[in-house]
Amino acid sequence: MKRPLFIANWKMHKTAAETQLFARQFEKPEAFSCGVVVCAPFTALHAIAPTWFGLGAQNFYPQDQGAFTGEISLPMLKELGVQYVITGHSERRQLFHESDEWVAKKYHYAARHGMTPVLCLGEPETVRLADNAQAYCALQLEAVFGKTDKQNLPATIIVAYEPVWAIGSGQTATPEDAQEMCGHLRKALASWIGEAAAQEALFLYGGSVKPENIETFMQQPDIDGALVGGASLEAADFTELIQKGCSAGG
Ligand code: PGA
Repeated sequence: MKRPLFIANWKMHKTAAETQLFARQFEKPEAFSCGVVVCAPFTALHAIAPTWFGLGAQNFYPQDQGAFTGEISLPMLKELGVQYVITGHSERRQLFHESDEWVAKKYHYAARHGMTPVLCLGEPETVRLADNAQAYCALQLEAVFGKTDKQNLPATIIVAYEPVWAIGSGQTATPEDAQEMCGHLRKALASWIGEAAAQEALFLYGGSVKPENIETFMQQPDIDGALVGGASLEAADFTELIQKGCSAGG
């Protein structure tokens, strides 16, 4: 039985002091059996000790050390207790020009180094309007899993489907569209890594997820959790969201 997973992506929000405050307010919900991960900014990671939830980073550079001014390596993150790293978020693809190839390189680098990568993908609005979203997202998935050596896969495969137009916009995909996409991507994944591994993979939905809409997403058979931006910034909101999502999907 898969455990639903809720990941907070704080983006460029919260100082270390604000993070400490969040950590004090963020208590484990009662009778709680889901996975939770908080992806804080680099400078706040030391301020949040992972306990009942996991710690994630939003980015890293795929080398252990070297002349890469301004970059952060996995050994640096591991030292702070980080177990998860986001790869392929649409903001990094768009604002920092990260290509499918670069995302795949980072994904496999993280997996080889014992981290759990969270692969994000999703279509821009023009692609959705042209009715081409499934093919577009399947190509993003193929770039990572299409030619992969199964031995190099992480123990837990996590794919977050985040339509670009839904991120931070207050507009979500319909639960039915998100289900259709995640079901399609799971099938595609099965064709590369096998049915059993694809069934075990966690597909998350992301894009304006809130306590008010999480349940309808979690009721979909191929949606195993959520990647949450804005609604993860306040401990009370995020707690309510994971509590509702966990009971709806459990
Ligand atoms: P949002 O962000 O929940 O604020 O839409 C989600 C994300 O970018 O991961």
